[in-house]
Amino acid sequence: MPLVAVTGGAGYVASELIHQLLAKGYSVRATVRSKADTAKVAHLEALAAALPGSLELVEADLLQPGSFDAAFAGCSAIFHTASPFFLQAGDPQAELVDPAVQGTRNVMAAAAKNKGSVKRVVLTSSCAAIKGNANAAAPKVGTTYSEADWNETSTVEGGEAYWVSKVQAEKAAWEVAEREGLHLVTILPEFIMGPVLSSRTDATSMGYLKAWVEGRAQAGSPVFADVRDVARAHVLAAEIPDASGRYIVAASHSTPAALISGWLQERFPECAFEAGEAGQPEEKNSNSRVQKELGLALTPVKETIQDMASTLVALGLAVPKLRQQQA
Ligand SMILES: NC(=O)c1ccc[n+]([C@@H]2O[C@H](COP(=O)([O-])OP(=O)(O)OC[C@H]3O[C@@H](n4cnc5c(N)ncnc54)[C@H](OP(=O)(O)O)[C@@H]3O)[C@@H](O)[C@H]2O)c1
Repeated sequence: MPLVAVTGGAGYVASELIHQLLAKGYSVRATVRSKADTAKVAHLEALAAALPGSLELVEADLLQPGSFDAAFAGCSAIFHTASPFFLQAGDPQAELVDPAVQGTRNVMAAAAKNKGSVKRVVLTSSCAAIKGNANAAAPKVGTTYSEADWNETSTVEGGEAYWVSKVQAEKAAWEVAEREGLHLVTILPEFIMGPVLSSRTDATSMGYLKAWVEGRAQAGSPVFADVRDVARAHVLAAEIPDASGRYIVAASHSTPAALISGWLQERFPECAFEAGEAGQPEEKNSNSRVQKELGLALTPVKETIQDMASTLVALGLAVPKLRQQQA
């Protein structure tokens, strides 16, 4: 099987992607910030030991020019997932926007230097590149967003640095791809949930469901994506010759919080969960392109949430309250 590279290999999404690539027998070169950080990489080594593909870890940092050049040598596809994903930062420009945008430029430059072997670059973008969080100009509720939309409303000053980081990084990737003649495909998930493979709990996705499982209902009604679908979409985007452009990989509409607490209650009847709010306004995405063109079947949101909760509990990363502990 060909050699492919995955940036940000120890992250939540990348771990599932590496899992699927190794299961298919790919040789994977994964970049991580530190190979010595066993808390971050041990699960990847365990996956490689158990699955048919092979794994090599290489150190690279988004903010270091040239950092990815050697890592991509001989690779036929680059999966660029690395990007800071957190919502609170002391210096949002320096901590979120710069690493995302300069990092994407560094990754694309490294792909261009290895054009001889690199046939495809698949970038993990986000629906944050399509719509802002508040989005006054194009109301989130009442609009069905598609791949044709770009987030033109988020600003760092307005508290949406993560959204800015994603829209600017994706635009930078398209600009370099066009200039260098690279075949780029972008995947745009919304809030990703689904089984975890690592014992890290610092990923924003994990923090969100861990809070729910431990009895703290979360505000809002997110549009969810399943991590297995997101990873599968990356692989399909690299393998299918006609894959092109942007693909939303997310549910077609938002999930009211009341459903989440109900699904957790059903999955763990012996436990008590704080009830989520019902009847929040609906947000909509058009998700037909990835299903029609890449043949991706999307996982029902209930399954995504229940499966993630099960892995968090099984790995001891979240401890639900038993009913009698509630008082
Ligand atoms: N989770 C979601 O809901 C969601 C939704 C839409 C899009 N996405 C996108 O999916 C991708 C992966 O996110 P995730 O959810 O898997 O988050 P994550 O677990 O926090 O992974 C982020 C990865 O980026 C790496 N990274 C951050 N700064 C870096 C730097 N300066 N140099 C090198 N690597 C750096 C991290 O490295 P370390 O392992 O060393 O920390 C980590 O591996 C991101 O592009 C994110 O924007 C996520």
